[in-house]
Amino acid sequence: MSFPIERPRRLRRSEALRNLVRETHLNVYDLVQPLFVVPREDVRTEISSMPGQYHLSVDQVVKEAVRIHSLGLSAIILFGIPEGKDSQGSGAYAEDGIVQRAVQAIKNTVPDLLVITDVCLCEYTSHGHCGMIKDGEVDNDSTLELLAETAVSQARAGADIVAPSDMMDGRVEAIREALDANGFIDIAILSYAVKYASAYYGPFREAVDSAPQFGNRKGYQMDPANIQEALREVELDIEEGADIIMVKPGVAYLDVLASVKQAFSRVTASFQVSGEYAMIEAAARNGWIDRKAIIMETLTAFKRAGADFILTYYASEVAEWLNS
Ligand code: PBG
Ligand code: ZN
Repeated sequence: MSFPIERPRRLRRSEALRNLVRETHLNVYDLVQPLFVVPREDVRTEISSMPGQYHLSVDQVVKEAVRIHSLGLSAIILFGIPEGKDSQGSGAYAEDGIVQRAVQAIKNTVPDLLVITDVCLCEYTSHGHCGMIKDGEVDNDSTLELLAETAVSQARAGADIVAPSDMMDGRVEAIREALDANGFIDIAILSYAVKYASAYYGPFREAVDSAPQFGNRKGYQMDPANIQEALREVELDIEEGADIIMVKPGVAYLDVLASVKQAFSRVTASFQVSGEYAMIEAAARNGWIDRKAIIMETLTAFKRAGADFILTYYASEVAEWLNS
């Protein structure tokens, strides 16, 4: 059967027909809002590299969490900017660290909103790398203990899901063991299993002042040219006990996302990162693109490619659109 019997346009004739046959749906509860927590009180400062996103003190992040929960979003993910940085990244696993205090305050106020915490050291190290430096290199195995300690301290503060983003080998196993040993058997691990060494993180690094002081992250984050290796990374993280797999960045890696989803049939997330956000904002501010249409089209593409949920700086704004 083909033309003129078959005419695909029959099902595109009206909004109602298109709604009826649509394959992919973007839902409010599929979106996760990243938030940046900073020290002090009453701080709400726009981030210059990410217009429309803010540095929020703990009191302000609680307010934002309340608003986000009322919009129907399921979760937020927290990133912290500590008072001070040191070579060990001690702010990452301090009992009264910035993220730990934020998690406690948020869970006290909106216990039903899921709080995901990013597990990494780069926001807390003076050298800006995601692990410990030994002989001028990022040392894998000594970093694992600190990552595990970070995850446990976040779980103790009340985090529902911990999300290691450091790309050290063996971190999922180290974190799972430490969580279980401390009684947190039900705290899930969302692994940034496939995280590429990407220029798309630029605006984020400016936001959290985490650009490496020497070298780059290519020795631990993945080569953008590789997809077979991505599948292997996912396999390893599943073996180590990851509950959710993430592919990052987003749009430039939708082929990887689709392959991972197909190959493993696991809960798979994607992160529309800071550079993707900044590019849309810059073009929109110049009047070169239809901002809302671009955002909705892009997020729909993530779902079509296989994302079960999406971390996006647009989460709360899109929730407002979807709810209205
Ligand atoms: C920390 C981390 C980064 C991002 C998430 N967690 C930065 C990096 O690896 O350099 C990027 C998020 C974004 O760009 O929006 N390792
Ligand atoms: Zn890092």
